[in-house]
Order: sequence, then C-alpha cells, then structure tokens
Amino acid sequence: MLDSTIRDQFPQLASDLVYLDTAATALKPRCVADALYQFYTRDYGTVHRAIYPSAARSTESYEKVREQIREFLNADKASEIIFTKGTTEALNLIAYSFGDAFINAGDEIIISEMEHHANFVPWQQLCLRKKAHLKIIPADKNGELNLERFKELLTSRTKLVSIAHIANSTGLINPIEEIIEEAHAVGAAVVVDGAQSAAHFSVDVQKLDADFFVFSGHKAYGPTGIGVLYGKQRYLEEMPPFLFGGDMIKKVTAENTTFQEPPLKFEAGTPPIAQVIGLGRALEFLSEIGIEEISAHEMALCNEALKRFKQIEGFDLIGKGDKRAAIINFNIKGIHPLDLGTLLGAKNIALRTGHHCAQPALAHFNYEVSARISFGIYNTYADLDILFSALEEICLKLNLSAHC
Ligand SMILES: Cc1ncc(COP(=O)(O)O)c(C=O)c1O
Repeated sequence: MLDSTIRDQFPQLASDLVYLDTAATALKPRCVADALYQFYTRDYGTVHRAIYPSAARSTESYEKVREQIREFLNADKASEIIFTKGTTEALNLIAYSFGDAFINAGDEIIISEMEHHANFVPWQQLCLRKKAHLKIIPADKNGELNLERFKELLTSRTKLVSIAHIANSTGLINPIEEIIEEAHAVGAAVVVDGAQSAAHFSVDVQKLDADFFVFSGHKAYGPTGIGVLYGKQRYLEEMPPFLFGGDMIKKVTAENTTFQEPPLKFEAGTPPIAQVIGLGRALEFLSEIGIEEISAHEMALCNEALKRFKQIEGFDLIGKGDKRAAIINFNIKGIHPLDLGTLLGAKNIALRTGHHCAQPALAHFNYEVSARISFGIYNTYADLDILFSALEEICLKLNLSAHC
C-alpha cells in the first residue's frame, strides 16, 4: 500500500471526507495549489508574445511542461503535444480537424457502445455533417467489446477508430493494442481516449502506436481547464487548425493567413498558462510516487471492495469483465442509485450517481442510472470500512435487510 502520509497532502480530506469519485475528477494535492499560487503571485506573465523577464519565464515554464508530457507519454517529439481544455475539447478538435482533412461522404468511423458521450457525440455529429457512417462495436453481457464483430466492421472505407483505453461506464480495460493493430491493417487512424487511464497506468504512445491519445488534467490531480492531445506529427501537419486567432499564425494579410507549425497551430489565443503549470506539478507528483505503485494500490482497494460488494444481496456489477481498472459501477436492487448517493453524501461519502455521460453503455445493461465508486491515491482500507458500514446502515433503514 502507499504511504498513508499521502493523504496529508490533500487538504480537502481533513474534513474526514471519504472521496470515491476520482474517475469524475481527482482531489488536488497541496503542491498543485502551491504551484498555482506561486505562478499567479510571483511568476505570472503571458507566453510566446513578450520579452520582459516574467513573460520569458512563463514561456519557459509552459514549454517545459510540454516536454514533461512528451516524456510522460513517451511521445517522439514535444511538438506532438497540444494543450486543450480537456479530453472533451481534444476529441472535438480531432473530430473537426481530422474530419475536415480526411473524412468524406461514404467513409466510416468506428467507436464502441461503451464510450463516454465525449467520445461518441463528436463522431456521430461529424458523420451527420459529412454523410459518413458511424459503426459501433457491440459489447457482450459482461461489457467486453466483441472483437470478432470489430474485425467484421473494419473495411477499406474505415478512416478512424476511436476507443476508450478504460471505459468509465464499466471500468474495463479495452484491448487497445489489438484494436490499433487491426485498424492499422486497413489504414485507419486510431484515437485512444485516455481520460481514465493516464493517471492510473503507464502509457507509452509509441509502443501502443496510437495515432492520437487524449486525457484531462483534472482527472490526473491537476487543475480543471487543461487537457492534452497527443497526435502523430504527420497527422497534425495535415490537419487544419481548429480555432483561429492569436499565437497560431505566421502571417496575416487582408487576403489570407498562414499558420504556425504544430503544436502552436492548434493553440489559438492566450492559453491556460497557470493550468499547464499546475498540470506539470501534478504529473511530477505522480512520477515521484510512481505510476506502478499507484496502480497496485488502487487495484488492491478495488479488489477488496468487489469482495465486500459481492456479499450484498441484490448487488449488480455493471461490467463483469476481468481486465479492470479501479472503478466499480453498480446497482443494488431495491435502492435507487440517486437515493444511495444522497444518503451516502449526507455521511460525507462522495460517489458518482447518474448515467455517467454514457447513456448507450448503461442502456446496454438495461439501466438508465447507476452508482459508481472509483479509487485514487488517497483512498485507504479505512474508507472501505466507512463505506460498507454506511451501506449496511442504509439497507437496514430502508428495510432491505434481506438484501444486505
Ligand atoms: C472515458 C472518458 N472520456 C472522456 C471524458 C470527458 O472528460 P472531460 O469532461 O474532462 O473533458 C471522461 C470524463 O469522465 C471519461 O471518463
């Protein structure tokens, strides 16, 4: 297990909060808040535009984080790292820009039934705009993707496949290595939605041979309003800009504009400088602890929670596949998940309830809503004790003793 002093680095936990919603957003360590405070109060300046000392320092810190993320993902070049607002904006950027350059009427895009809406709706809307076809890999009753069906869906018209590394609706790890290999065999590009994986498993985009990989800073213990888009240089060079404005141009005249090379081509306007610096500090914090250690810690807690959940009568695990991350999506017969969320919330236990921005995935399991717990580096076995004793109490109160 990770050292219990890690909890001390998260000021919000001082209120005895049991935080089980890291898959939605992670709490922030003090070092990230300190980095933001220091930047805003001591080092603040714009980037790429001015030569006075604080602006030069700002630019240096901002570009240093780009290099740090290159290393974090093992990308080939720092120019393949683009800062966005988050996973959602990164996926929309690819859908618009790759879509503009490479998708024509009759082409095909493949996603899966288990995707977050951020990796579903942009492709659906792109297909509607371009009269292309959206094909969807079905999942089996355990939530695992049907790879045989995927292979049948691939054709010479398939231009892009976009799949979550880890499905937020089930916590299952998708076989992206195999998906990438099969997609490349027909010449399709692959986008990996790493929103649920980047802070929990080590990622090597070159080893994976992913064409694009995206994640959000706030799920990786960094600030909100910052995300990362990794894209292979050869695609980024051919893709048109997504947004137009300052910092992304080479020359503007009344008649025409020429654009910067990637990554600046895709970073129009004053970027979220403080958020980039905060993300850099968050990734440093994760690297100091070690991603492998983090993964082992979270999975140990997840396996223990699953063991205890299985003793609750009426517990239904959504996504029963074997290869999972530390996310448990579930319903308990007789308790509406929103009631469960409210009752646990009143006890200072935070978990996610609702459709998890994955309505097609929940519909696959015949649910509209469910409850979800997910683990981060600050969780402990004591959190599990508090959760399960609260669950027992709630079951008794609701006269569900037969179920608990
Ligand atoms: C798998 C997956 N993709 C995309 C997103 C969207 O991330 P964001 O809201 O940070 O843009 C999420 C957020 O929960 C997610 O879990």
